[in-house]
Amino acid sequence: MYQERGILVSMQILLILRFCTCMDTITLIQPVKDGDILVSNGETFALGFFSPANSTNRYVGIWYNKISEQTIVWVANRDRPISNSTGILSVDHTGNLVLQEIDQSFVFWSTNVSGVVNDSFTAQLLDSGNLVLFQGLNKEVYSWQSFDHPSNTYLQGMKLGLEKKTGLNRMITSWKSSGNPGVGDYSYKLELVGSTQMFLFKGMTRYWRAGSWNGLGWSGVPCMTKGNIFIANYINNDDEVTIAYHMHNPSMLSRVVATESGTLERLTWHESDRKWVEFWSYPNDQCDVYNHCGPFGFCDPNASVTFECDCLPGYEPQSPQDWYIRDGSKGCKRKVGIHMCEVGDGFVELARVKIPDTSSAHVNMSLDLKACKELCLRNCTCKGYASADISKGAEGGGCIMWHRYMNDTRTFLDGGQSLYMRLDAAELGTLSVLLLSKLNFHFEQTICLFLSPFTFLKNTIILF
Ligand SMILES: *[C@@H]1O[C@H](CO)[C@@H](O)[C@H](O)[C@H]1NC(C)=O
Ligand SMILES: *[C@@H]1O[C@H](CO)[C@@H](O)[C@H](O)[C@H]1NC(C)=O
Ligand SMILES: *[C@@H]1O[C@H](CO)[C@@H](O)[C@H](O)[C@H]1NC(C)=O
Ligand SMILES: *[C@@H]1O[C@H](CO)[C@@H](O)[C@H](O)[C@H]1NC(C)=O
Ligand SMILES: *[C@@H]1O[C@H](CO)[C@@H](O)[C@H](O)[C@H]1NC(C)=O
Ligand SMILES: *[C@@H]1O[C@H](CO)[C@@H](O)[C@H](O)[C@H]1NC(C)=O
Ligand SMILES: *[C@@H]1O[C@H](CO)[C@@H](O)[C@H](O)[C@H]1NC(C)=O
Ligand SMILES: *[C@@H]1O[C@H](CO)[C@@H](O)[C@H](O)[C@H]1NC(C)=O
Repeated sequence: MYQERGILVSMQILLILRFCTCMDTITLIQPVKDGDILVSNGETFALGFFSPANSTNRYVGIWYNKISEQTIVWVANRDRPISNSTGILSVDHTGNLVLQEIDQSFVFWSTNVSGVVNDSFTAQLLDSGNLVLFQGLNKEVYSWQSFDHPSNTYLQGMKLGLEKKTGLNRMITSWKSSGNPGVGDYSYKLELVGSTQMFLFKGMTRYWRAGSWNGLGWSGVPCMTKGNIFIANYINNDDEVTIAYHMHNPSMLSRVVATESGTLERLTWHESDRKWVEFWSYPNDQCDVYNHCGPFGFCDPNASVTFECDCLPGYEPQSPQDWYIRDGSKGCKRKVGIHMCEVGDGFVELARVKIPDTSSAHVNMSLDLKACKELCLRNCTCKGYASADISKGAEGGGCIMWHRYMNDTRTFLDGGQSLYMRLDAAELGTLSVLLLSKLNFHFEQTICLFLSPFTFLKNTIILF
């Protein structure tokens, strides 16, 4: 009996010891000093002080706890490093996490939420990699969380995008260099102009367009829609426009990172080789560079023998001289002699396309593709249309119409969707001859609108 109780007591002590070595919380009386490490409950993530490669500066960061290669996923004091090992991260009397040097008053970093004066705040490193701050025992309501302030890494369970009520637009930003986690040039974020799209920005400039949500993925990320290792969850309602993802296999380590060299990469950890392996990376080729072929241009990486830039059907190079020296940036203009808005206008279908920038497009989610076509045809300024939701199949769910610019259009070898370009009767006639060699295109004229189920077959030209 005594013996049993003894075993029980020592087991409890062991449990407590284990709890203490694997501490996952910071409180007023339990700060984290340089050298201490916080480990999340399931031991997936750790928090502590670190120095990047070739640097002696100290930063507070979160990294994967179990893998051999230190991989930082979040940094607190990105632009305010501490120069020696006297740093201390604590929760103060106003419910903020503060990073200071021991016995110094200068604040290197703070959560900076206007809290109430109360000594019962706790910060906890969750097993998702999220560092959260809450009051008392109210573990469900966070007064602050690191997932709302990402660094360069997008983790599963994290949302990117906008909270409409607070205006918080979560984005990831690259490091300055591999030795400096300061806020760098590249950011991956939701652009709120027109129909929302994700972009990789270089400074203030659009660098790569992930595109608009097409029901399955971003229009510019064809590999999001097939053979995937994660489930994406896009929300667009009165409260938020956000995107989150969850791995099919939750224990698989995978992350998306905006790198200092200007790429957005998804990597997965291969334990057998002990290294991160790239799953995809963008921009992927020259056609991914934003508006590489200019307005009304059309980029085809497979046309590499000559020049990857072409014009959308019905358009011709703005500057043939530039085109000749393989600079497509000025884009294309309407072909001379095209008579739009007359009897016989119709559409040509471009298959496997990254649809144009939707910043100034008109979107109506309650129209199907047929209604979309009719509406576009009736309005002279409508230059082309596409389905807004390709998860609904060939009939489409929702309608995107372009009345002004059609920027940043490209073709994919695989994936993408159909874009329907308006042409006049004469041009439709010419195309039927010209396009015989270009299997990417097929088209239909309005009079044949309801005739052919084959119009949705890829790589088919339908002649009239
Ligand atoms: C660190 O410095 C060494 C020597 O200058 C260099 O070879 C190495 O690539 C650097 N590592 C990083 C990660 O920058
Ligand atoms: C650490 O650096 C700070 C200034 O950044 C200085 O005030 C402090 O004395 C240094 N502490 C040690 C132990 O070097
Ligand atoms: C804290 O927030 C206030 C108001 O939002 C801002 O003016 C101030 O610069 C912030 N301080 C820090 C240290 O981030
Ligand atoms: C601090 O917060 C706790 C838990 O929310 C509450 O029970 C307590 O009364 C608060 N103390 C003060 C001084 O406001
Ligand atoms: C693209 O190029 C590759 C290699 O040259 C070729 O095998 C493939 O058929 C081409 N695809 C298209 C759609 O032209
Ligand atoms: C398209 O590109 C042109 C020329 O670069 C620019 O003036 C226009 O604002 C762009 N339109 C959209 C919708 O991005
Ligand atoms: C979308 O189309 C429907 C059906 O034609 C129409 O009733 C509605 O007003 C349109 N919505 C917008 C925002 O244009
Ligand atoms: C055509 O569409 C544009 C943009 O939606 C609109 O401003 C214009 O009024 C429309 N014209 C007609 C004739 O419906």
